Order: sequence, then structure tokens, then C-alpha cells
Amino acid sequence: MKIPIDRQAVKPVYLQIRDRFSRLIRSGSLKTGDRLPSIRSLAKNIQVNKLTVIEAYNVLEADGLIHARPGAGYFVNSESLISTSPKSNFAPVQEVIIPQQKSVSFFDIYQLSVQAKSQPGVIDFSTGFPISSGLQDLQRHARRAMKQVTESLFNYDFPQGQLVLRQQIAKMLIQLGLEVSAEDLIITNGSKQGLSLVMNYYLQAGDWIVTESPTYYGTLDIIENIGARIIGIPMQGSGMNLELLEQYLKSHRPKLIYTVSTLQNPTGITTALQHRQQLLALAEKYQCLILEDNAYEGLNFEPVPSPIKSLDRSDSVIYTGTFSKTLMPGLRVGYLLATGKHYRPLLEQKLFHDLHVSTVSQAIVSEYLASGHYRHHLNHLRASNLCSRNAMLQALERYFPEEATWTVPNGGLFLWVQLPQETSMVSIARQAWSKNVFIYPGMPFFPGHKGYNALRLNFSHAPEAIDRGMAILGKLLKEHLVKIG
Ligand SMILES: Cc1ncc(COP(=O)(O)O)c(C=O)c1O
Repeated sequence: MKIPIDRQAVKPVYLQIRDRFSRLIRSGSLKTGDRLPSIRSLAKNIQVNKLTVIEAYNVLEADGLIHARPGAGYFVNSESLISTSPKSNFAPVQEVIIPQQKSVSFFDIYQLSVQAKSQPGVIDFSTGFPISSGLQDLQRHARRAMKQVTESLFNYDFPQGQLVLRQQIAKMLIQLGLEVSAEDLIITNGSKQGLSLVMNYYLQAGDWIVTESPTYYGTLDIIENIGARIIGIPMQGSGMNLELLEQYLKSHRPKLIYTVSTLQNPTGITTALQHRQQLLALAEKYQCLILEDNAYEGLNFEPVPSPIKSLDRSDSVIYTGTFSKTLMPGLRVGYLLATGKHYRPLLEQKLFHDLHVSTVSQAIVSEYLASGHYRHHLNHLRASNLCSRNAMLQALERYFPEEATWTVPNGGLFLWVQLPQETSMVSIARQAWSKNVFIYPGMPFFPGHKGYNALRLNFSHAPEAIDRGMAILGKLLKEHLVKIG
């Protein structure tokens, strides 16, 4: 069998294999019951690693196109099982939120999520933690990294972080379409610190800032602590509502727009290139800085447009990224990309806050990147998350009330479910916790807790756990809706 592979393409090889088989099956060239080439023979034939073929077959299985028969191989499913690509029915009310008072309790939510994560037997749909598997080799790299940094542990380091790591990150970002060098980067304690440094430098109490609504509650917390005032522009299926954004840019002259352009937290939405161009044009027109947060970079199932920062020719965009979602949140390694006039003041902010990021954490990430395993690790994560996302979508169809609508993210860790306004989310969350299913009502993602009823569901779990947890949750929701009539 011939499968043309483009090794220079942005699309990972396992997805190229998946797409080829998908076309062959959907066009009828491969028919119900046909056997796919064995993993070993296909890997040899197209000269790829066997793990790459396994990932492609896992994704085809998650797409409902093939199934495995133990000991016999992979076979094409009957036509009735072959579904079309899932579509989102997400279309929330377009209401701008301007909260009047401080409301976010990030501390409580954070405590709860760390607790939930450590409880045995809990199916935790609530948190932003990535799946923690397949990282045994990281321990090996950590030992090697420790040997290399022994000397430097007795010294302080530069605030911008280690040059080797910045060079490695610059290389990764160039592949995303960004024009960047190590001199434009500052290593931060997770991207949360990057967000905090930027906001604390550019915002003062009383200033206006635009965020998406809903958005990452950690950012809302930073803004509220500064005392800046939030304009929450509603998310649509295509991203932040740009018409409403322009009205508020004109009337309120905010200093900053905060956006998660790719695999947004909590909706999972990725904006198209045209949306990015328009957003940047608006920011330039109204002389407003954009803070682009790309925390879920690398977790996309299909290619995504280059970041807004790649279109920026006027230093209107500051960009943050992190290894928290792809490697380990506990390492606390993120980065800020700040060009031109923004670099020096932000570097001074970094020095002012905590001098620099732990040299050990930096060395571990650096060693891991140097090993060349990162790319493979990302492919593994994406394939596993895609299977989990599909399991979550199937469970939503099967168990959730028909009034529910949801997003269909093209990667990341979450999807966002909108529920009828009369649902008591707190009561549902309590009942679900008592049955060992952990969810958190969606309110904290809205400025001032003022949005519609929703749930962010983390799908990075084994499909079997997703099915079990979602069956419990769906039953509770249906019973609740019947009760309140
Ligand atoms: C959108 C977004 N930005 C930033 C962060 C913070 O991540 P880090 O661990 O890098 O500080 C998160 C974590 O959930 C997030 O979802």
C-alpha cells in the first residue's frame, strides 16, 4: 500500500496516515471487514516508527472507522458505525459582562482542584491537569540534568533564564511561524507568572482590560487583584465576538486585550487566521496591547493557524507559553516572548519578583528537549487526547439531556458544555462529588461569575473512565431537570 508521507509538513506523520486511511474507507476503496496492513509491515513499508502507526490506528479506532481484533489485526468497521466528523452546536447568548465587584475565589478553586487530583478513585473532570503517563524517560533526563547543573546550583542565574533553553524554545516557536530569537525570551515560573508580570506592569487600578468571556479564571484573579476593570467580550463558536469588541475598544479605550487564541480555556475554541488578523488590526487601530496566551500549544489534533504574534509588525503582541500542559505543571517552566520596547521592562519585572526560575527545572526541560523525545511525546499525547475527546463526545450524546450544547475542540484538554439556565450547578456538583465524579460549575470562568450555566469538562482520561463518569453525571442532570420541571 502506498501512503505518501511529507516529513516537512506541519501535520504530524501519524495524522497523515490517519487521513489517508480515512479517505480510503469513506470513499469505499476499503470496505467493511477489510484488514488494514499489520503495524510492522506498514511501518517498514513507509519507513516510520511502529509507534507512529500504532498512534494512527488508535486515532482511526477513536474516529469509529476501524476496530482491533486481538491477535488478528485491525479491520474496517461496518458503515453504520462510521460517523461523520462531530459538529459543535455551541451558540451562547452574546452578552458583554462588566463586573461591578471583585468576585473570583481562585484560591478556593485551586485548593479544591489540587485536592481532587490527589484523591484515589476520583474521576476528575474539573481540573486543568494533563494526563500523567508516558514520562518514565523524563526521570532519566532529570537525573542527567541534575549532573549538569550541580555547579550552577551554587550561583544565582540571569533573570531571563538559561540561554540553551531559550534557544531551544526559539527553535520551537519558529516552527509555529514566529520570528523569534533567544534574546526575545524570558523564562518564567509557568505562564501564570508571565501573565502576572505583563499585567502588573501595564495595568493600574481603574484601567480597562478586555478578556474573552468565559476565560481562564487564573487571569481574572490577577486582573482583579490589580484593581483593573474587566470587559468580558462573549465567545462565539469562532472566538471572541469582534463586533462587540470594537464597540468597547471605541467606548472604553482598554489598555490590554487578553486572548487564548488556540484551544481556549475553557471552551477549547481555536480562532481562524482571519479572526487573528482582524483582532490584531483592531488592537492596532485602537492602540491596545494584546496579551496572547498559548498555554495549550502543541496539543492540537489538526494543524492550527500561526499565533497572532506571528502577524505582529508593530510590537503590539506579547506572547506566553508553557510546558505545564505538555510535560509537567510541577516543573513551573513557562516563557514570555516580548519584542522591542517591551523586553527590558518585563525582564526587570522578572528580576524584581523572584530573580529567576529554578535552574534545575530549566535544565530538566532543556535536557528533555535536547533528547528529541518531545516531538514523539506530543504525538503520543495528541493521539491519546483525541481518543479521549471522542469518548467524551459520544458520552455527551448518549447520557446528557438534549437541551445541553457543547464545543468540539480540536485539541487541548477541555470541552465546554452549556446547560439550561434553571439547572442548579452547585447541587449537581455536590451530588456528583458524593459519587466520586469531580466537576466544578462553570461560573468562575466568567468575569464576576456572571455568565450562563456551564461546565468545563477535562477529557484527558481513559475512555472507560469517561464513560463511567459521564453516565453518572448525565443521570444526575436528567433527574434534576425532571424534578424542577
Ligand atoms: C489559559 C491558561 N493560561 C495559563 C495557565 C497557567 O499555566 P502554568 O502552569 O504555565 O502557569 C493555565 C493553566 O491552567 C491556562 O489554562
